[in-house]
Amino acid sequence: AAATTYQAEDATISQGTAAHNHSGYTGSGFVDYVNTTGSYVQFAVSANGAGTYGLTFRYANGTTVARPVDVVVNGTVVTNLVFPGTGGWDAWQTLSVNASLKSGPNTVRATATSANGGPNLDSLVVGDPADTVPPST
Ligand code: GCU
Repeated sequence: AAATTYQAEDATISQGTAAHNHSGYTGSGFVDYVNTTGSYVQFAVSANGAGTYGLTFRYANGTTVARPVDVVVNGTVVTNLVFPGTGGWDAWQTLSVNASLKSGPNTVRATATSANGGPNLDSLVVGDPADTVPPST
C-alpha cells in the first residue's frame, strides 16, 4: 500500500518549535523539541483499515547522547524508541516501529522521555509494516 508522509512541523507540537535552521529536512522544516522530558509531537494519522502499520520517523540527533521517545498510539505506549546520534544536525536517519492502527483517525504521539528532549524530528511516514524493528528499551 502507498505510504503517507506527515510532516512534524505541521503536527501538534507541545514544548517544541517548528525550525529550519539546519539543512536536509523535507517539507518546510522540522520540529526542535524543547530539551525536557514530556515534550512531544502528535500526528493525526488516518488509516484506511485496521491493521499493523510501519511508523518510520525521520530524525537528526547531532549529539552523541541517544534520545529516547515514547511512541504513543491512541493513548497507549507502543514502545520507547531510542534515537542515536546521527553525526550532525544536518544528518538525517530513520527509525521504524510497527504499530496497530484502527480504521479512520488515529493519534501517534512521540514524547521525549529524557531531559534532553527528543531528536530534531522531520517527519513520520506511515506505510507497510517495517522489515526491521529496533529493540525497545
Ligand atoms: C542545537 C541544535 C538544535 C537542537 C538542539 C538540541 O541547539 O541547533 O537544532 O534541537 O541543539 O539539543 O535539541
